[in-house]
Amino acid sequence: PRPILLTRHGQSQDNVRGRIGGDTVISDTGEIYAKKLANFVEKRLKNERAASIWTSTLQRTILTANPIVGFPKIQWRALDEINAGVCDGMSYEEIKKNMPEEYESRKKDKLRYRYPRGESYLDVIQRLEPVIIELERQRAPVVVVSHQAVLRALYAYFADRPLKEIPHIEVPLHTIIEIQMGVTGVQEKRYKLMD
Ligand code: F6P
Repeated sequence: PRPILLTRHGQSQDNVRGRIGGDTVISDTGEIYAKKLANFVEKRLKNERAASIWTSTLQRTILTANPIVGFPKIQWRALDEINAGVCDGMSYEEIKKNMPEEYESRKKDKLRYRYPRGESYLDVIQRLEPVIIELERQRAPVVVVSHQAVLRALYAYFADRPLKEIPHIEVPLHTIIEIQMGVTGVQEKRYKLMD
């Protein structure tokens, strides 16, 4: 059985400011996580020559993967965070205050709610299909460095969680979710590398 390691990027400037979307760099705390992650991956995948690191095309995942050396890195647009459309760059409070109808519709049906000029969770799930096909084909371990909404969808696929739960699954920062697919089913371990 080969592991799939899922992790969000290290804390970004937008995480610090409480803003969604965007394409900021990681904070000093995020940089520390990037180093810890590299350490973990290099130990965990020491003899796994064919392993690879997959990131999104956004700076925060690329910078998080940066300190990992010795494995090929692949950028996937399909791993980019949910597109918040007109709400990109806003905080949840700003959305609630300035676009209360949008805020309420998302709260009512987070799975199906599509941001104006952006995406819904269902859209994200659909665009992840090629990534999942490729993950299933891989024989070697893969480290996926991506984003909250995308990782909820990926995790739900492997952990066999129902569709309606996806937008609410906990995928904290600075934590590695290791998934092992064996004959007896899927096994999961979580490694919290920092608070
Ligand atoms: O806040 C970080 C973030 O990745 C945002 O960029 C994104 O819009 C959000 O999380 C997705 O989580 P939720 O669907 O719970 O708003």
